[in-house]
Amino acid sequence: MCGIVGYIGHQEAYPIIIKGLQRLEYRGYDSAGIALYEDGEIHVSKTKGKVEDLKKKAENAANTLGVLGLGHTRWATHGVPNDTNSHPHYSNSGDLVIIHNGIIENYESIKKALQKRGYEFKTDTDTEVLVNLIEEVKNKEGVKLGKAVQLALNQVVGAYAIAVFDRTKPDEIVVAKLGSPLAIGIGENEYFIASDASPFIEYTNNAIYLEDEEMAIIRLGKEIKLRKIKNDAIAYPNILELQLNLEEIEKGGYDHFMLKEIYEQPRAILDTYRGRLLANEGIIRMAGIDQNLEKFLNANRIIIVACGTSWHAGLVAEYIFEDLARIPVEVEYASEFRYRNPVITENDVLIAISQSGETADTLAAIKLAKEKGAFVFGVCNVVGSSIARETHAGAYTHAGPEIGVASTKAFTTQITVLTLIALKLASEKGMFSASKFHEILTELEGIPGKVERTLESNDLVAHISDTYKDSTNCLYLGRGYNFPVALEGALKLKEISYIHAEGYPAAEMKHGPIALIDEQMPVVVIATKKGHYEKVVSNIQEIKSRNGRIIAVVTEGDKTVKELADHVVEVPETLECLTPLLTTIPLQLLSYHIAVMRECNVDQPRNLAKSVTVE
Ligand code: G6P
Repeated sequence: MCGIVGYIGHQEAYPIIIKGLQRLEYRGYDSAGIALYEDGEIHVSKTKGKVEDLKKKAENAANTLGVLGLGHTRWATHGVPNDTNSHPHYSNSGDLVIIHNGIIENYESIKKALQKRGYEFKTDTDTEVLVNLIEEVKNKEGVKLGKAVQLALNQVVGAYAIAVFDRTKPDEIVVAKLGSPLAIGIGENEYFIASDASPFIEYTNNAIYLEDEEMAIIRLGKEIKLRKIKNDAIAYPNILELQLNLEEIEKGGYDHFMLKEIYEQPRAILDTYRGRLLANEGIIRMAGIDQNLEKFLNANRIIIVACGTSWHAGLVAEYIFEDLARIPVEVEYASEFRYRNPVITENDVLIAISQSGETADTLAAIKLAKEKGAFVFGVCNVVGSSIARETHAGAYTHAGPEIGVASTKAFTTQITVLTLIALKLASEKGMFSASKFHEILTELEGIPGKVERTLESNDLVAHISDTYKDSTNCLYLGRGYNFPVALEGALKLKEISYIHAEGYPAAEMKHGPIALIDEQMPVVVIATKKGHYEKVVSNIQEIKSRNGRIIAVVTEGDKTVKELADHVVEVPETLECLTPLLTTIPLQLLSYHIAVMRECNVDQPRNLAKSVTVE
């Protein structure tokens, strides 16, 4: 986690870095800091808290006209979030300054060795150890900064995206990457460094994404030099032209990114299937699947690995793949899968789902599956991310940047991509008649319009939220395709409003959670017409007879549940396999409004980060 930003060029670095850090706060926001070079001095300001707090504290830095600087927004791993442990960190001489995203796992042994040789440490961080190791190597070997960084990194175990500069040589920044993302924006005689392209997209569309185990020496007036960290081999930069635009990463009139992203879902889902879903022709076209069709069709099973919300999208996919394509699926938490010595064969296909494409556990699961010979397919949102690069093939979700930490449009677009894949495989396997296939494709094509209609329930959901905003617990129930939606609804509420919530398969309620139900307990039930409707209605009766408060998500025109529930929110009718794309919307809105009413920080909930690049 953590966001890093750097600048070297001809403009004032301070505003560029501060704005960049604000865009990267989704990566961590428990402390922030900035180091600026001016006239032989380094001005460092750092603080516990958010970039807004840093701005108040960084008057010194703000007044510098420095054109070289580094900034950091932190999600603590080693050392509590406080002013001292905030980045940037500097070496004992005060000459070298570093920012770091990642973890140096063997920092303790290196620290002890450095201490024996006279080094002193002011912080509890692994990063301060690394910058001093670089300094020691530089002095001992009499080498330049780039070489010293390389030699030092060959001694460390862990993950990093780092940027370092030397006070005595202020025309150069050295960066390196292993396991954490690092992009370099290339402008006119200026360079930008960042964890993703959002900090520099208004200045340049040209960027290099460093590969793992690569480093770059960025010197003003010179071409960037890329090297392999391990063996010093020259690497050749692949300069990409980015499509991202500034508007996509700003709030556009909404109070929060999360609300903006909830409302973007009709467009995002459409973008996801655009060019892939050709309903009239009865075709699904997806390059990553078309080119690897045999692998999927001959697979023993599909293993899906993911974390958080992406894992819930994986659970929805399990229903779709098994139901429509009759391919066995297992869905695993990436963090468990990677460590439990799983049985993986060359006939397995592993699908990794990740919004950010950077989640450390998901990446590790991919590497493991590749080692065992499985075919690995990625479903990512962030173009060029580590997971997108590490997988054999993949399909992007094209949701656009998701900034709110609580994932919304990533979820529905992941489900959309996975539905397209399942439908494609089902049709290849001859599971449907042409007319049935056409019917499903047409229905999927109409989903953005139905999401739009579902969003019209916003005021009603806000009203319901007001009734339950002070609850301490909440239960979410669903069956079949909507069981994972119940899990996701509960996760959303927990994440941003800090109300304890649990998702359960509706029928399992009897085996435990029913004991919790009393007149204080809101129970959100997904009870759409298709999919075990009568059985869910019976579950609702069971809740009602124990005085639970029922908020039901039902199909438009439903009468039965309306009589039983305290509140109902309607969604348009659709095919059962597509209901998650609609039923999830009121649950997103419910958690959003409750969190706003509780005055929680919706876009940056406590203790969380959007991109979890540590295990
Ligand atoms: C974090 C985020 C979640 C996200 C999960 C997986 O926990 O807060 O919103 O679902 O990571 O992230 P990924 O980028 O791999 O989908």
